[in-house]
This record gives sequence, structure tokens and C-alpha cells, in this order.
Amino acid sequence: MAAIRVSSTSLAILASTSSSSCYFHFRPSIFTKFRFTPIRDISFAITPLSSRRAKRMAHSIARATLGLTEPKKIDPPKISFAAKEVDLVEWKGDILAVGVTENDMAKDDNSKFKNSILQKLDSQLGGLLSEASTEEEFTGKAGQSTVLRLPGLGSKRVSLIGLGSAAASATVAYRSLGEAVASASKSAKASNVAITLASSEGISKLSTASAIATGAVLGTFDDNRFRSSESKKPGLQSVDILGLGTGAEIEKKLKYAGDVCSGIIFGRELVNAPPNVLTPGVLAEEAARIASEYSDVFSAKILDEEQCKELKMGSYLAVAAASANPPHFIHLHYKPPSGEVKTKLALVGKGLTFDSGGYNIKTGAGCLIELMKFDMGGSAAVLGAAKALAQIKPLGVEVHFIVAACENMISGTGMRPGDVVTASNGKTIEVNNTDAEGRLTLADALVYACNQGVDKIVDLATLTGACIIALGPSIAGVFTPSDELAKEVLGASELSGEKLWRMPMEDSYWESMKSGVADMVNTGGRQGGAITAALFLKQFVDEKVQWMHIDLAGPVWNDKKKNATGFGVSTLVEWVLKNSS
Ligand code: BES
Ligand code: MN
Ligand code: ZN
Repeated sequence: MAAIRVSSTSLAILASTSSSSCYFHFRPSIFTKFRFTPIRDISFAITPLSSRRAKRMAHSIARATLGLTEPKKIDPPKISFAAKEVDLVEWKGDILAVGVTENDMAKDDNSKFKNSILQKLDSQLGGLLSEASTEEEFTGKAGQSTVLRLPGLGSKRVSLIGLGSAAASATVAYRSLGEAVASASKSAKASNVAITLASSEGISKLSTASAIATGAVLGTFDDNRFRSSESKKPGLQSVDILGLGTGAEIEKKLKYAGDVCSGIIFGRELVNAPPNVLTPGVLAEEAARIASEYSDVFSAKILDEEQCKELKMGSYLAVAAASANPPHFIHLHYKPPSGEVKTKLALVGKGLTFDSGGYNIKTGAGCLIELMKFDMGGSAAVLGAAKALAQIKPLGVEVHFIVAACENMISGTGMRPGDVVTASNGKTIEVNNTDAEGRLTLADALVYACNQGVDKIVDLATLTGACIIALGPSIAGVFTPSDELAKEVLGASELSGEKLWRMPMEDSYWESMKSGVADMVNTGGRQGGAITAALFLKQFVDEKVQWMHIDLAGPVWNDKKKNATGFGVSTLVEWVLKNSS
């Protein structure tokens, strides 16, 4: 059986079939330069080859990316964060940003701020802060911000940023504060900023500092890998977080925030990458690179088509069958650096690098075929979480990261509507709609996950348009028979600030999934489409395993920014940490 071996110095695929064997290297470059040649393309020509010759061949016949697009290597934002206690008036830098609620803006009978921090700044500025904020009609509403260039402070500018009313979700509000500072820094070309709150009574200082830092990093991130113009000079370099404490505990929390951000950014880059660049093979290469970078805690196995056939993954392979880009089944394995393992988890992500719909092609207004590169958003969340956890290294927990990556295309070799396919647990499926392909790939991925002997599985998928109809663009649907698991993951999402909503798994709806010839069809009617999809997945999960399905078809993408969100990464990381010791 072929396997991918990962070591810190080199990453090699060792593949063998009955008739031939070959051996070649991934170039340990970034996700930007790919010379990835699928083994199947060359195996017939080499029986057997010396590893060096195989490597050379793999290189010489490597196909250029369709469209000749080569993403640029751009390092993600590197901002240094420090938690300090210094006098705001004395702080020196480009922008001093103050998060204020509507309450904080209240004034007394003499039109002076009641809030002590605003009062102090205002008196240092001779009343200009109060005057300017009134003139600009700044009231502290969420989303409002103002940057003032006022003399009299150590800082060049002072910025007021609205937090809205105190009732709103704290994580979301403080993350938005960080994002607002990032965008103010962009327009002011600022490199050193400080962020503080006008009032910080009764809040968790650690979580607040971490949410602010997260917002600042994510707000600074711009994905310019596919623009020809030179990327601009480095922007934001340092952020001082003032008034939320100092010391080891907060430093550790800020490092944690940075690790999660690197996972979110990685996830966003995977989703933003166009489908001609991010093929299933390239997604596998990216996953394997995480394992090679963090070989102290990770190992990777990438299965090719032949190996998936040996495992009888007929459902997954049927989806992949029309594509010229072969499928790659990705399995990363996290083991803690020391100590006993108490809980075994699996994270399974839908990894359709493009979904045309197949013979049931996506047509008509609103079908979003041009956005179907985001159909690997579940796998991006899973791999983003892997990258974050590789750096956090939690103890007591083992995690499997599983993606059945492929493309849903159209060709004479592709599956037809009406075909019956057989999944790796032996169940048969009549494919009444080739566009319900995600569940077909997840079926085999879930069976594989159960075979790893895990206690709990969470799968994430851009599975149904119906879920967007039900919950709108920014809320993900959660489906699970387990109240316990629901409590864990929803608890994690409260910490992460990501919006999840539990949906019912109505067993009576299974009626619409009955087939005349096979064990089931792959789509029911239009009604309750997100629910019947979840019921379908349940057919492929062992009853003794706790399982949850998250449909992130809506929140995977930010329509306004025309960009990926990285949704899922931070909730998954929080959930894994809840299961650690
Ligand atoms: N990837 C789509 C789901 C999707 C659609 C996500 C639009 C985001 C935006 C999935 O593979 C799909 O096509 N689902 C079908 C299922 C249907 C055929 C039962 C859908 O939702 O239309
Ligand atoms: Mn589809
Ligand atoms: Zn899809």
C-alpha cells in the first residue's frame, strides 16, 4: 500500500501498484508554486524507475497550471502585539485607538465626558475631542469610527471606535474593534498603534485582548496573491494593547490568538484560490506541508485513486470520475507531543475544489457556479484548524483531519443521474442528482473516520443552498443527534464568536430519500433540503460515535468583500481544546 512519508527535511510520495512503482518529491515550496504531478499520469511509463529518474520525469511532464496563473508568495501579516500599562497621554505612536460604547459617550451638564478616560484625553486636548466627536456625530454606535489628528498627545492621531451597546456579543464587538483599527491604519499608513477601551469593568480582559488582536490581524490581511500589481509596503507592524493587564498570562493568550489567526488566514487563502490553481492534488500538497512543517506532532497519509478503490470508496470515486484532476484522499493525524491520549476526535471537511454540478449542471441566475471554488470551505476549516493546533499543541487529545478531495465535473467518464454507487460501508446509493455530490464524498470520508476508532466526529461542508435559505448568509446549520456534542460545539462557538444554529434531524423526512432500486437516493425534495442532507450523512456514521454535521454554505463566503471568511477554524480549535487536558 502506498503511503506518504513526511519528515522535516523532505516530503516524498512513495506509491506502488501491482505493475509499477515510482517515487517523487513534492517541492517544499509554498502553496503558490506547484509542480505537482499526479502519480497516475506517469505510472504506465515507468516499470520500475530509480527514484532520481522518476523525480526528473515527474518534473518534465508536470503540466503548467491551466491559464498559466502562478500565485505570488506573500507572507501573511506579521504584527507584534504587546500588553502594556502606560499613560494614554504619554503613549507615542501613529494612532491611539479607543473603543467606546454609546454609554461611554454620555456627557454631563457642562458637556464634559462622564467617562474618566475620555475626560482625561479631552482635557489634555483642550476640549477638542469632545468638540470633534460632536461635529462628526460620533455616538459610539457599532461600526462608527473617527480618526482625528489633534495636537497635545504623544500619539500622532487619536481614533474613537464605536462598540455599540454593551449587550452585543463581546467577542464580535472586540474583534470588530481590532478590524476597525486595522482599516484606520491602512488609510493613515500607520505602523504603530495602541488600542484601549474607555471602560473595561466587568469584562474578561484576556478574551477581550485576544479578540482585539484577532481583529487587527484579520483586518490587516489582504489576499493579493493573484494580483499582478506589486503589493504595497508592509503596513501595521506593532499593536500595543493598553489597560487590559500585562504579564505571562495575557502574552500567552495573544500568542494563542496569533496561532488561530494563522489558521484562519490559511483557510481563507485555500478558499480564495481559484479552482484552476487549487486542484485536489494541490490541496493534498498543502495538507502534507502542514505535516512536514510540524512533524513533531503531525503525520500525513494521502491516498490516491487506486488506494481509495482498494478501500471500496465507490461513492467518493464516482464524484471524482469526470475530472482530469485526480482525487486525493487526505488524512492528517495529530498526536500530542507528550502524555496520555484520553479523547480521539476526527474533523472531516468537504473538499470539492470545484462543483460544476456534473450532468445536473448548475445553471440559471443565482446558482453561483462561478463561486464554486468555495465548495472546499469545509476542508479549509479543517486544515486551518490543523495549522493552528500544530502550533498550540494541546495535550490529551488525538485528532484526525480527513478530506476526500476531488472535483465535480462533466465528461464521458463521469457519473450519470440514475447511476447506483456503492459506498465503503457497503450501502448503495441511487444518484438522482449529480449536484448533490458533497454528501457522496462525505459518505466515504465518514466511514473512514469511524474506522480510525474515534470518539467524536465533526464534519463541515458547504453542503446545501437550502441551508442558506433557512439561516441566511452568516449563520451555519448544526445537525447532530447528540445533545452533549451540541452543547460542546455551541459552547466553543460562543467563545469564537462564530454563529451556529442547531437544526432538527427529523427522522420522518427520511421517507423522501427512499429509492426504488438502491438503499437510498442522494436527494429528497426541495423542502427541508439541509435536513435530508444531514439524514443522508447519518447513514455513514457508526451509532457508537458522537457525530455532528455543520453546513457552512452561507458563512464560508463574504459577498461584500468578495472573499473567504475562514469560517469554522476558530470554533474547531476551541472545541479541540475543550477536549484536551
Ligand atoms: N455545493 C453545493 C451547495 C451550495 C450551493 C453551497 C450554493 C453554496 C451555495 C452542493 O453541492 C449542491 O449543489 N447542493 C444542492 C443539493 C440539491 C441538488 C439537493 C443544492 O443545494 O442545490
Ligand atoms: Mn453540488
Ligand atoms: Zn457542492
